[in-house]
Amino acid sequence: MKQMCVKAPINIALIKYWGKKDELNVLPYNPSISLSLSLYETHTVLEQCASPGLTFTLNDLADAKSEKKVREFLTFFPFDETKEGLIIRSYNSGPTAAGLASSASAFAALALACNLYYDEPYSFEGLASITKKGSGSAIRSLLGGCVEWDTDGRIHALDWPFEDVVMGIVVLASQPKKTGSTEGMKHTVQTAPSYHDWVKQSHQDAKAFKRALQDKDFTQLGSISEANALALHAVCADAKPPIHYLNEQSNALIKGIQEARKEGLFEVYCTMDAGPNVKLLHRDKDTTRLTQWLNEHGWPEVRLSRIATKGAHRCER
Ligand code: PMV
Repeated sequence: MKQMCVKAPINIALIKYWGKKDELNVLPYNPSISLSLSLYETHTVLEQCASPGLTFTLNDLADAKSEKKVREFLTFFPFDETKEGLIIRSYNSGPTAAGLASSASAFAALALACNLYYDEPYSFEGLASITKKGSGSAIRSLLGGCVEWDTDGRIHALDWPFEDVVMGIVVLASQPKKTGSTEGMKHTVQTAPSYHDWVKQSHQDAKAFKRALQDKDFTQLGSISEANALALHAVCADAKPPIHYLNEQSNALIKGIQEARKEGLFEVYCTMDAGPNVKLLHRDKDTTRLTQWLNEHGWPEVRLSRIATKGAHRCER
């Protein structure tokens, strides 16, 4: 029986994607730049089966909402439910739908697995253009390291000069978020008066971020990333009615980190997505001080991640 296994890393954007200028083709209003991370991944297995129809499980459980999205995604491939049997098992090693990029790794893994299973009907560019239709940010999980997704819908690997960079993730809530990112960004584009300022600023942020990469300037890179994440949450709060992904705990943690940084305790920068969890960008030399500080202040244990050098790739079962 035919089978295909693929793994894909999660990715966390340091310059955030928020808003589609073309909903059908999933083209973003602004460029985004991410790091693929080794901490969590999705492992997806496709297996042929004798009886026609699709069976989908997520972490070995039936999941109607995800199955619907998978079925929609399969329309990009020559899958005929009436004639062909297909079992898809997907495993997320991190929490699902809590702003920890599980949909990015999930769709990158699914897209590559389907493409290989059906003998590569798509070139890499074609694969990238359908992957983002599953989830926009999933396109960046096709590559490892530092990845830019531009406003023409293409992805590029950027040289990442910091071998010692670590991303710490503080999970403040692992329940699914109330407003999904698709819905949240649409609402922001339509109702936030400052949305166009956000787009303008994030183009400038992407440029400055790439300059910081070339200059190997971590301080600059961290500051731009933190400001960009805070601007994302500010534009969400400007929507009518406002969207608040961060909770009181997230805001207290961000404030604490910023103060400790100002006092020179460590050089750590915050980034947050469509959920309350806070990710802490820093370098090896500051990990011990950061963990101690989090511990002393009663924060949950930080999960530390390196950069994943490989994007979505075929694997053994
Ligand atoms: O790919 P989506 O539709 O889940 O949107 C991702 C949005 C953010 O995580 C907030 C930002 C990003 O660029 O990943």
